[in-house]
Amino acid sequence: MHWESYSHKKIKQTIFNALEQNLDYRQKTVLGLPASFLDTEVFYHDAPFLKDAPFLSAMIANPNHIGCHTLNESEAAFEGTQKIEAELINLCAKEIFGGQNSSYDGYVASGGTEANIQAIWVLKRYYEQEFNAKSEDISLVYTEDAHYSMPKAASLLSLSNLVLPVDKQNRQISEGAQELFKSAHTDGKKYFIIVLNMGTTMFGSVDNIDPITEWADKLNLNYKIHIDGAFGGFIYPFSDSNSKLTFSHPKINSFTLDGHKMLQSPYGTGIYLTRKGFMEYALTEEANYVKGKDYTLVGSRSGANAIAVWMIMRTYGSEGWKMKINKLLEKTNRLCDQLSDMGIEYYRDPRMNIVTIKASQIDPQVAREFMLVPDTHDENPNWYKIVVMDHVTQGQLDRFMMQIQPVTHA
Ligand SMILES: Cc1ncc(COP(=O)(O)O)c(C=O)c1O
Repeated sequence: MHWESYSHKKIKQTIFNALEQNLDYRQKTVLGLPASFLDTEVFYHDAPFLKDAPFLSAMIANPNHIGCHTLNESEAAFEGTQKIEAELINLCAKEIFGGQNSSYDGYVASGGTEANIQAIWVLKRYYEQEFNAKSEDISLVYTEDAHYSMPKAASLLSLSNLVLPVDKQNRQISEGAQELFKSAHTDGKKYFIIVLNMGTTMFGSVDNIDPITEWADKLNLNYKIHIDGAFGGFIYPFSDSNSKLTFSHPKINSFTLDGHKMLQSPYGTGIYLTRKGFMEYALTEEANYVKGKDYTLVGSRSGANAIAVWMIMRTYGSEGWKMKINKLLEKTNRLCDQLSDMGIEYYRDPRMNIVTIKASQIDPQVAREFMLVPDTHDENPNWYKIVVMDHVTQGQLDRFMMQIQPVTHA
């Protein structure tokens, strides 16, 4: 896992060079595109600070990254910045998920939800095209702790879902799941799209892939695995050097990552990564006006977003990013030590920065004051979570601990 950190000067040069290779609506005659630079009354292009602000300059130039830029030719008008997106996809697949150079396709999606739906759509079409499968032959499998984008995908794609129970102590998929696979198989499901979590939304738990593949292989199931790393994709691969959730695992087909969570990039920066040969299943043949056609769920999308993610990754480099993650994990360790000393019950995967406290252990008033997030907004939550990110300071955590102390000792 290694990628170089670039100086601000090099980042600026790279982005401005890329923008120069793009079509400039001011320089060229462009009669046919239903698009332009951003409205000049509001976003004037000669603001003096723009020459030092590559991301804002990209926003104002407004490149459209419609299509998939790791695959084939795309809209030539935005070639310069599309190359940056292609580099970003390769960087994530290779350096974060242990892939081989240029063996993956992907794109910057609107978020984790879209990337998950794209992954499930691609695999559904794979089973339809390669095995002549009908929707009713395919099961979408995910755990009870998985994000709600999975039931959303099942509903959109007319797939039945198989929800695997998790152990309430360690949040790992429980043994009972084996029987569920068996009955789904007996009931006529022939193909299984399995989504595993690299950091669940509420607990930050990371699924163990081994029992799943063991059960599925024992039943001789036809299955492929997608990993939802929307939250954990920018943490877990850096905190567990023995991670099995990489492209080296033959059953893992694709990953979701989300820049707009841990990476602190702007909203609209989900990332979908898949092995080469799979993006094609999402081809929309009728996308005739798009050069290279379209393989993504979304259609038009902002090129500036891809640039934002690339800039953050290139500013830190792999070593800088690992240091940042380590600092957050140390802060999380300190919080957990204090909670343990006080006998407060919580769940935490030691490789993640989420701490989920049993609701019975803290005063709801304190949870509200510190804006902890409950597992449900109904009257009686079971859990409250803390996500230790950059804005969560030691002072805030200390104040929180001081406030919960009297309640738990009462
Ligand atoms: C594990 C997981 N997957 C998917 C998503 C969906 O991401 P988005 O809100 O970017 O669509 C989230 C959001 O919290 C998440 O935690």
